[in-house]
Amino acid sequence: MAGKEQRDIEAGPPPPVEPALGVGMVGYAFMGAAHSQGWRTVGRVFDLPLRPVLAAIGGRDAAAVRAAADRHGWAAAETDWRALIARDDVQVVDICTPGDSHAEIAVAALEAGKHVLCEKPLANSVAEAEAMVAAAEAAAARGQVAMVGFNYRRLPAIAYARRLIADGRLGALRHVRITYLQDWLVDPDFPLTWRLEREHAGSGALGDLGAHAVDLAQYLTGEQLVGVSALTETFVRERPLLAGASTGLSASGATGRGQVTVDDAALFTGRLASGALASFEATRMAAGRKNALRLEINGERGSLAFDLERLNELSFHDHTEPAVSAGFRRILVTEPDHPYLEAWWPPGHALGYEHTFVHQARDLVRAIAAGTTAPAPSFADGLQVQRVLAAVEESAEKNAVYTPVPV
Ligand SMILES: NC(=O)c1ccc[n+]([C@@H]2O[C@H](COP(=O)([O-])OP(=O)(O)OC[C@H]3O[C@@H](n4cnc5c(N)ncnc54)[C@H](O)[C@@H]3O)[C@@H](O)[C@H]2O)c1
Repeated sequence: MAGKEQRDIEAGPPPPVEPALGVGMVGYAFMGAAHSQGWRTVGRVFDLPLRPVLAAIGGRDAAAVRAAADRHGWAAAETDWRALIARDDVQVVDICTPGDSHAEIAVAALEAGKHVLCEKPLANSVAEAEAMVAAAEAAAARGQVAMVGFNYRRLPAIAYARRLIADGRLGALRHVRITYLQDWLVDPDFPLTWRLEREHAGSGALGDLGAHAVDLAQYLTGEQLVGVSALTETFVRERPLLAGASTGLSASGATGRGQVTVDDAALFTGRLASGALASFEATRMAAGRKNALRLEINGERGSLAFDLERLNELSFHDHTEPAVSAGFRRILVTEPDHPYLEAWWPPGHALGYEHTFVHQARDLVRAIAAGTTAPAPSFADGLQVQRVLAAVEESAEKNAVYTPVPV
C-alpha cells in the first residue's frame, strides 16, 4: 500500500467541512466592528450547518476600508456597495450603515438574490420600510432570508424573559415600562454628527434608542402597540459643524454651527393590543447614564425586571407565592438550559454586549440553512416598529394627541 494511502487510513476520514456561507458587510465603524466580531466568532462557538466566511467588507474610502478589512479579518475590500453585492463569494449582505442607505442597499441585495441582515431601525421612514418588506417577501419566495438587527432580543436574559411570559408566568399583562438613557449629547458643543441629522438618521433618540425599546416591548409581550401619545424635544438646537473624522457617536475638529434636525429625547405612552399600558423614555441627555436600558413588566401573576448594566441577570417576582416569602429574586441567566448558553462557559461565567452579535449571526445562519422564510425579527417586524416611531412623531407634533398605530 502506498505511503499516503496508509497515512489516510490511519488518520481516518477528514472531519466534515460545512459548506461556506460568504458574508459581505457594508459599513465598518461601530456596528461594523460588532458584527465582524459576531461573524468571526459564531462558527467557533456554535455548531452550524453552514460556515460563515468573512468574504468582503464595503466602505467609501479605499485606504480606510482596506485597513478595516485587515483589522476585522475580512478577505476583500470594496469601495462600492454595488460591487460588494455583485460578488459571487457573497451570499449574505450585512448592512451596518446609517439609516439613509438601508433601503437602497437592502432592496438591491435582495433583488440580486442575497440574504440580508440590516441594522436597526429598519429604515428612515415607513415608506422605505414598506419597500423593504415588499422586496423581502418577493425574495422569501425564492428562499432568501431577511432579518433586522434588534440585537437585544439575543441577550439570554431577554430571551428567557420572553419564554417566561409566553409560558404564562406573568399571566395577563398590565404594564410595560422601558427606559433607554444615554448622556453623550449633554455637552452642547458635541458636534453635529449624522445621528443629529434627519436626512441621515430619520429621527434622534427615538429611532436610535426608542426603536430598541419598542421592539423589546413587542417581542417580550408578543403583542403590537396599537396607539401612542408622545412628547419629543430638541434641547440643543444648534451644534458645531464637523470638519474632521466622525462616526455617529464621536467626532473631532469643528468649524461653525449647524441645525440639529432630530429629537434629543422622546417620551411616550402606548396601549398594547391586549389593553396593557406601556411607557417609554428614550434620551441622550440623561447625565451619568451611558447605555442604561431598563425594563419592567407587570402581570396579574408576577413581574419581570431587567437592566442592561447587569445583563446576565433577570429579576422575577412570582405573585402566586405566599406574600410572606414572595419577592423579586435574581435569576443568574448563565445556565446551559438558558437561551444561547448551551455553547458558552460554565454557569456563572458571564457574557457581555458583544455576544448578542454572535447570537444574531447564529440565528441568521440557522434560518438560512433551514430555509426559514422570515426569521425574527423580520423586516415586517422592523416595519411595525417604524410605524410606531412615525405615530410617536405624529403625536408629538400634535402635543401628545393619542395616535393610532396602523397594523
Ligand atoms: N444594534 C445596535 O445596538 C446598534 C448600535 C449602534 C448603531 N446601530 C445602527 O447601526 C447603523 C450604523 O451605526 P454605527 O453606530 O455603526 O455608525 P458609525 O457612524 O459608527 O458607522 C457607520 C459606517 O457606515 C459607513 N457609511 C455611511 N454611509 C455610507 C454609505 N452611503 N455607503 C457605504 N458606507 C457608508 C461609514 O463610513 C461608517 O463606516 C445605524 O443604523 C444604527 O442605528 C445599532
